[in-house]
Amino acid sequence: MNVLMIGAGDIAKSHGRAVVKLGGKVIAAFDVNEAGLKRYADEFGCEMLTYDQIEENVPRADYVVLSTPPTKRLDYVEMVLKHHVPLYMEKPIGTSLEDAAKLKEMEQKYDGKIIVGFAHFYRPAFQKMLELVESGELGDPINVFDNRVGPGYGFRGTYFQPSWRTDPKLACGFTIESISHEWNLLTALCGEFETMSANVWCTIDNLPTYDTNFSGTMKIKKGGIATINASWSADLGGNFKGYIGTKGSCFLRGSDMFEFDEVTWKTSDMAQAETLHFNDSYKYNQDGVIFNIHKYFQDCLKNNKPIRTPLDEGIKVLKLSTLALESSREHKEIILDERM
Ligand SMILES: NC(=O)c1ccc[n+]([C@@H]2O[C@H](COP(=O)([O-])OP(=O)(O)OC[C@H]3O[C@@H](n4cnc5c(N)ncnc54)[C@H](O)[C@@H]3O)[C@@H](O)[C@H]2O)c1
Repeated sequence: MNVLMIGAGDIAKSHGRAVVKLGGKVIAAFDVNEAGLKRYADEFGCEMLTYDQIEENVPRADYVVLSTPPTKRLDYVEMVLKHHVPLYMEKPIGTSLEDAAKLKEMEQKYDGKIIVGFAHFYRPAFQKMLELVESGELGDPINVFDNRVGPGYGFRGTYFQPSWRTDPKLACGFTIESISHEWNLLTALCGEFETMSANVWCTIDNLPTYDTNFSGTMKIKKGGIATINASWSADLGGNFKGYIGTKGSCFLRGSDMFEFDEVTWKTSDMAQAETLHFNDSYKYNQDGVIFNIHKYFQDCLKNNKPIRTPLDEGIKVLKLSTLALESSREHKEIILDERM
């Protein structure tokens, strides 16, 4: 498929390589950073666009990938959706609920087709875990959790590396940017939450609103409890997600925060646990992780299948992150039914 890229930074390279691996082509790209855009065009042999050329090129694409910082999206979304071209939009969809409402309006106005880039959802190890939960083998949720820690942006109070993430004009913090994945994964496993109570912690002195650590505890609507514990401040990395159900348990473990090494499960009917090894590494093979979601999206587009992480999922997740920040700021538990 022919794909147009808006934003040609780090993750855009993995998007481009996924498109090529699937037999397609990056036909054109735009980025505000001219040197970065040139490097991107050199790798993919694509046209370099100016801002004013984006819209006239959109209709040439089978879909557009938008991977700019999340505060810089609305104009691009309109340029794409008004031409009825499908959109792959990186998470988080934005950083404010006002932007989320504008995106929803555009989606409805143009009958837009949007996938939000919750890439971890489409990784084979998580799909295995989800399949076990959805089959009913593990029963109803009792305790569902997601722990992932490692060195990230803001590690030891430094910027770690230059990025929009720690640029005071563009920064949105860990809870909005990255915990978006946890909300997506946990609610896929156990359904929506009834209540939520969260705490965040910031570790960069001169960027006091930039949170780098998160803990949250939720009551699950259909029963049971859920927790998230995540950090960008750890010297050591680890990933441990679990579903403890009324009939069985399943763990997804990895040796760093985004490593999906193995899935282990045991139900009351099994004499011993089973383990499947995936060794699916984000650290060493980011391109491979992003490949899965492009493969899925292209299948949805070619065969007119519904998308499992549409704009509504991105909006729900942004609301949860926003409410978590409110919970932490105001030291209170949030009753979600009244706010979602
Ligand atoms: N799904 C995932 O696993 C995953 C992984 C990494 C990043 N992301 C998301 O992808 C997005 C980009 O992250 P990244 O790591 O590639 O960041 P990055 O800084 O490497 O790339 C962002 C690019 O956007 C460009 N840019 C900035 N403002 C722009 C504007 N107004 N118009 C056009 N281009 C502009 C920058 O020059 C840069 O090249 C973020 O939303 C991030 O959360 C998702």
